[in-house]
Amino acid sequence: MQGTLQAEVSQVKEQVDAGYALPSSWYTDPQIFAAERSRIFRKHWLYFGHVAKVSEPGSYTTRTASGFPVVVTRDEDGELRGFLNVCRHRLHPVAIGCGKAKALQCHYHGWSYGLDGRLKGMPRSTEAFAQDGVGFVKEEFGLVPVAVETWGPLIFFNLDPDAPSLMDALGELPGLADIRGVNFSTVPRGVDEEQVNCNWKTLVDNVIECYHCPTVHPTFSEVYDTSAKAVEITTMRGACALAFPARDKAVAQQAGDADFAYHAYFFPPNFYLSARAHESYFLLVTEPVDATHSIMHSEFILPESLTEEQVREVMDGAAIVNAEDMAVSASVQVGHEIGSMPLGYLMPQSEAPLRGFASYVCDALAGEEADATVEETPARAGAGSA
Ligand code: FES
Ligand SMILES: [Fe+2]
Repeated sequence: MQGTLQAEVSQVKEQVDAGYALPSSWYTDPQIFAAERSRIFRKHWLYFGHVAKVSEPGSYTTRTASGFPVVVTRDEDGELRGFLNVCRHRLHPVAIGCGKAKALQCHYHGWSYGLDGRLKGMPRSTEAFAQDGVGFVKEEFGLVPVAVETWGPLIFFNLDPDAPSLMDALGELPGLADIRGVNFSTVPRGVDEEQVNCNWKTLVDNVIECYHCPTVHPTFSEVYDTSAKAVEITTMRGACALAFPARDKAVAQQAGDADFAYHAYFFPPNFYLSARAHESYFLLVTEPVDATHSIMHSEFILPESLTEEQVREVMDGAAIVNAEDMAVSASVQVGHEIGSMPLGYLMPQSEAPLRGFASYVCDALAGEEADATVEETPARAGAGSA
């Protein structure tokens, strides 16, 4: 299988370099999905959540993120730590939800762990060790650590102990977001998750281009100029950024008459952050379930000053766009599942981020780490080029 996969990956990479889309089988095949899980999701930085739930020492929060159960703690010394949320006894979760505690106690048989991951207590352990005298070394049964690092208030985790730092992996993305006014001095206001009947890459392919915006998002395109000549696209191998000027004068003024009233950032494999008027953020994580199902995890990060009515307006606007995107993605998946469709073609400018993402997937499956070197920045899509 290994040799076969390598041969397939190099053939697909050649097709991608020639402008073709990834083959449909990569959106349906459980073996490709298994390879992605081990070579992408077990090795790359994945979004966990906002730091607000673990702002105080002694706090913890849990989430199944991109298929991995994770608990993040802020220990008594104020250090942020991450672990697989799995008990070392017989693999039940050690924590549920979020809160403050001196220890995390597994609800199955009661083993307990410090917020630093060390195994602290095991009911009946004295009696058990007296009976069978096993050489049990408590220190070897701490929670399995995962790396946790932050971009602003956003926590990412990585299962690979040899992974580069989050900032190295993010490359030019935070700098570009900074220039465009992303400041995160806002608070989380809502989290949602919805299962979608499509491969996780179908959702990524959708969010990293706005070629579809005039046709799929008429309401959004009335407010923002989504034409080829107006949208600025920056590709950074697998990562990319998109920025849109406002058509609507009121929205432009609200954004301080900045060049771009709406801007978005994609960090592979599956994290997407969009910013509206430099203060309202909406993030999406396209989390894999299996080869043909995904979870769309979404979060709003909004200024505290917004009234309930304004919050509702932002959320309703995003919900419309999100529903439109999930509907086309599920429809595209039906096309992939036919199983005999010839390769699609990606527009060189408007779909440059998809070409970069497809290359990133090929490189990762081939075992080559993609670096985050900026290839084009900024690259304004030319009028009529797509
Ligand atoms: S599985 Fe956690 S105590 Fe048994
Ligand atoms: Fe869209």
